[in-house]
Amino acid sequence: MTAPVLEVHDLRVQLRTPRGPAHVVNGLSYSVGPGETVAVVGESGSGKSVSVLALLGLLPPRVATVTGRALLQGEDLLTMSPERLRQVRGPGAGMVFQDPMTSLNPVLSIGRQLVEGIRAHGDVSKEGARRRAADLLGEVGLPDPQRALDRFPHELSGGMRQRVVIAIALANSPALLIADEATTALDVTVQAQIIDLVEGLQADHGTGVIWITHDLGVVAGIADRVLVMYGGRCVEDGTVDDVLERPAHPYTRGLLGSLPDLAAPVGPDGELPDLATVPGLPPPPTDLPTGCVFWPRCPVRSDPRCETEQPPLAVVGAGRNGQSGLELEHRAATWCRS
Ligand SMILES: Nc1ncnc2c1ncn2[C@@H]1O[C@H](COP(=O)(O)OP(=O)(O)O)[C@@H](O)[C@H]1O
Ligand SMILES: [Mg+2]
Repeated sequence: MTAPVLEVHDLRVQLRTPRGPAHVVNGLSYSVGPGETVAVVGESGSGKSVSVLALLGLLPPRVATVTGRALLQGEDLLTMSPERLRQVRGPGAGMVFQDPMTSLNPVLSIGRQLVEGIRAHGDVSKEGARRRAADLLGEVGLPDPQRALDRFPHELSGGMRQRVVIAIALANSPALLIADEATTALDVTVQAQIIDLVEGLQADHGTGVIWITHDLGVVAGIADRVLVMYGGRCVEDGTVDDVLERPAHPYTRGLLGSLPDLAAPVGPDGELPDLATVPGLPPPPTDLPTGCVFWPRCPVRSDPRCETEQPPLAVVGAGRNGQSGLELEHRAATWCRS
């Protein structure tokens, strides 16, 4: 049995807003095994970004109340001291956001930022770190990596900056990598190159990956498991094959465009589309419905219990090889009818 890299238990995040408390993440539990890729999908506002920012202590404490447990290699991220958390980011957990400027320091050269990242967590000489930095920039596909080291973020294009951020996140071969729409703005060739790189890291170091994306092609290509979020909850969690081919929850079926009433935007060559648009709007986190969080938009709701009870996450089948802890795979809502 290999222990999971990350185990999240009953994660809840409440944000203080002018309209009262926003219940943005509402009891999220999942695990990521070594070398495993968990794709997180769900429309905008479902709490995907907030849930991963909470894991790394990146939400302002005056605004956010975070509860639950998030064990990174057995150590709870949510009760760690700020100092320990800083040590853990890098070798423990790396994160890549969609907007590279949130992660880069505009006044430091690319080389300096990479070298600092590499040296902060390892006993490496300055020259060694610079060589490693150039290698990494080459691996993420930056042309002329040596010269790139001396450039500043504003001198690079958006796509190149994003590749630098990815290089920094990968620099310490983290146990956990979180990618939040990390390759969305990159062209497909570069995206494929980054995905190869991440898969190489997983094979070499057993890195567990959380990949937030709205791109079903990426999900089908890289995910082992898919977690579907709606209204700050996980409504479905299963193997990539189960979720894409036999989605159980009506919301998942809507996103995949496989619910008859919801049209699917299929590509002209049959390529996998982005997630479909589900009619209606998600509930504001300041005013979540009772019962199943999806019922006000659900095309197959039929039973009064939808408005009063949360559908259970049904367990289908035992855990996969080598995973303990939350090792059972969940499937949402065989409960829902259609
Ligand atoms: N700083 C904030 N203050 C108040 N509400 C926020 C803040 N950040 C996010 N939210 C709200 O939290 C919810 C989830 O946001 P987010 O995690 O960014 O969604 P996703 O990444 O799934 O699109 C949204 O309703 C959003 O409006
Ligand atoms: Mg987001």
